[in-house]
Amino acid sequence: MDKLDIEVLSGKLDAELIKKDFPVLSNSVNNAPLVYLDSGASAQMPQSVIDRINHYHQYEHANIHRGVYELSEQATISYESVRSTVARFLNVTDTAEVIFTKGTTHAINLVAHAFGRTFVRAGDEIVISHMEHHSNIVPWQQLCEEVGATLKIIPISDIGELDLEEYRRLLSDRTKIVAVTHVSNVLGTINPIKEMVALAHAKDIPVLVDGAQGAPHMKVDLQELDCDFYIFSGHKVCGPTGIGILYGKRDWLERMNPYEGGGDMILSVTFEKTTYAEIPAKFEAGTPPIASAIGLGEAIKYLESIGLENIENHEKVLTQYATEALSDISGLTVYGTAPQKAGVISFGVKGVHPHDMGTLLSDDGVAVRAGHHCAQPVMQRYKVPATTRASFYLYNTLDDIDKLVDSVRSAKKIFS
Ligand code: ALA
Repeated sequence: MDKLDIEVLSGKLDAELIKKDFPVLSNSVNNAPLVYLDSGASAQMPQSVIDRINHYHQYEHANIHRGVYELSEQATISYESVRSTVARFLNVTDTAEVIFTKGTTHAINLVAHAFGRTFVRAGDEIVISHMEHHSNIVPWQQLCEEVGATLKIIPISDIGELDLEEYRRLLSDRTKIVAVTHVSNVLGTINPIKEMVALAHAKDIPVLVDGAQGAPHMKVDLQELDCDFYIFSGHKVCGPTGIGILYGKRDWLERMNPYEGGGDMILSVTFEKTTYAEIPAKFEAGTPPIASAIGLGEAIKYLESIGLENIENHEKVLTQYATEALSDISGLTVYGTAPQKAGVISFGVKGVHPHDMGTLLSDDGVAVRAGHHCAQPVMQRYKVPATTRASFYLYNTLDDIDKLVDSVRSAKKIFS
């Protein structure tokens, strides 16, 4: 794939121009311009998001849902308007189905506790996949240990696709929920969520989708996917840390017990009995991260102004270009080569430990993640201790990829 083809293909998105919106990306690291290829872990924030958060802190801060004075009422309006922004982003009509959480991990724990402790009993089964990151394994494992249920695992093929035949077989009368990632944070595989949801729903089994690596990178239409829960983090969609989203279908949310108890989630409290607020408040105990929620709203507006389809298309081009260029390096293996793949490339180079690779790339200003990526079962599946992972976003350019490839080549030379 040459650069001319790519410019035509990704023509709707000018990554060079977009990069200028992100102050961090004009920095140098180790005397080299920063090449940021770790958006799978955390995306950078554009100036508009930073400005919005600062403005809130400087002029708008007050606690929400509690004050009758103007400042508090305005803060409440700003916070609640983000719920509508998120609903639009996910194509959800009922804003009460949008719950603010601290992030993906918190949201999955919320469902594992609130759904799990309400509906899962000894002898039941929970289906997850071999490509989940720890956030979508450990909370379910803890639930299973507590109530005496069993985890069932959908296997993955050598190229990194879920085995749908085995998935079908795993769905049974005992299955209480399926929890699966939209996009693998290691392999980049985009899972066939719509099909998986339909198969589970045919047996009345609800499905939770971990969208941490999905929502930032493609248009998510929850009316189309029809999953029961969808989760993502603010800091992976160009927003701040400490904020995330749990979408849940009203019917489930209303039938689930609360997760955390405290202020704002109650209707009335006496020492004899507490009654709970309606959703979404029922799942939002205590003062939330107001500034972070407002920053998340601004981040979503920023992504929408670029266009999620344009972002997805741009990342596809970057991924194809990078895969071809990296695959030319002898001794380099790419883990995860499914045809439906997002902007994530995990690789290993014979004779070079992934951590050494990550450090040498950093010397050239190239930021990638090296390690098990909080997904140790994926490492076990491919029999590697770790991988080096480059993950792309809307601000990455072909030049970034060229620098990555040059740096990998130089690192390899040091060890040969
Ligand atoms: N889950 C995040 C990642 O993949 C932290 O890097």
